[in-house]
Amino acid sequence: MHRDSETKVVRTQMGRTGEKEHTSPVFLTSSFIFDDAEHMRASFADEIEGNIYTRFTNPNNSEFVRKMCVLEGAEAGVATSSGMAAGFASVMGLLRSGDHIVSSRALFGGTHGMLTNFLPRWGITSTLVDIADEDQWIGAITPSTRMLLVETPSNPGLDLADLEFLGALARERNLILNVDNTFGTPLIQQPIMYGADLVWHSATKWIDGQGRGLGGVVLGRADLIGDIGAFCRNTGPSMSPMHSWLFSKSLETLPVRMDRHSANALLVAEFLEGHQQIERVKYPWLQSHPQYKLARKQMTSGGGVVAFCIKHDGSNESALRRATKFIDSVRMCSITANLGDTRTIVVHPTTSTHSKLTEEARREVGITPNMIRISVGLESIADIIEDLDQALNGG
Ligand SMILES: Cc1ncc(COP(=O)(O)O)c(C=O)c1O
Repeated sequence: MHRDSETKVVRTQMGRTGEKEHTSPVFLTSSFIFDDAEHMRASFADEIEGNIYTRFTNPNNSEFVRKMCVLEGAEAGVATSSGMAAGFASVMGLLRSGDHIVSSRALFGGTHGMLTNFLPRWGITSTLVDIADEDQWIGAITPSTRMLLVETPSNPGLDLADLEFLGALARERNLILNVDNTFGTPLIQQPIMYGADLVWHSATKWIDGQGRGLGGVVLGRADLIGDIGAFCRNTGPSMSPMHSWLFSKSLETLPVRMDRHSANALLVAEFLEGHQQIERVKYPWLQSHPQYKLARKQMTSGGGVVAFCIKHDGSNESALRRATKFIDSVRMCSITANLGDTRTIVVHPTTSTHSKLTEEARREVGITPNMIRISVGLESIADIIEDLDQALNGG
């Protein structure tokens, strides 16, 4: 991480009150006062800077967004009430009926649902392609295509997109490259460096890092963020100041946390790879990952999530039974539908986060019934491994 960013993410503070507070106060106010009618008119006419109404801007939101811009190398950003609100705004703020998206098929379940079930209702269609197949990305582009959308590493399969390739393709075809960087975090990869126009996050994950708040953020080119900001201002998915305060404070420790999440996750991945109950392990920092070289090129560490498949006797029933038995056997790890927490979390994607996909859609992205996703936390690595080991051995 660049020296300047490292300091700014700790030291950036906006909207001081004059009380010389050392940490930012929470501006729990829905609106801001004007000196007189002319001040109010000029503020609404964008002739002067300043906060008007918290759905538009608020000092806490601005502080959080500023820090995220520093980390991602972005010109501007908008904070939203959830990660899905960020993803939705990044499309709806820019595209219109008749437009087409080319997206990787390996996606978080909510993003998959947004593309396949909801956007078509407004005439925005998508073609889903294999994340690693360059010919498919190129071949799926039509005269109506406006956006390339990708999530890398993908949830839960940890497949990677080549950001340099997609950045170059977007430039050549004059398309918007829109990257969900939730699993990377800006500490591990900065898609804008490779030509991404937009980056969005579920702040609910490592940005908060402690499983407390729901939030999202879209960052990128100022002209695009202008349109996305206007969409949010008029449709209302704003982040509450309490949440932006929380996320802004959390960013101060993000670099330290990500180092430890990645270090623990690599140890978990290596442990699982050598375990007799395991069929296969997927983690970007393992040499067995099919895109290991790409991971080393565009990421600075493997991140906090490991996916693995448990051995079974070959039938779907046995795969499901082994996976659910493992989940039922953990003693310390949490069974919960989140990730990016200080606490290690185990999830069975087939029956939870990706249960709304058809079986075929799950298989296409490698989500088999024996797959488990672990979000590796910050507990002692010895305790994490001990819990996984005893659960794999039947509890
Ligand atoms: C990769 C990814 N993108 C987006 C989301 C949606 O974020 P949120 O739950 O904050 O709406 C998630 C949530 O799990 C996710 O894992």
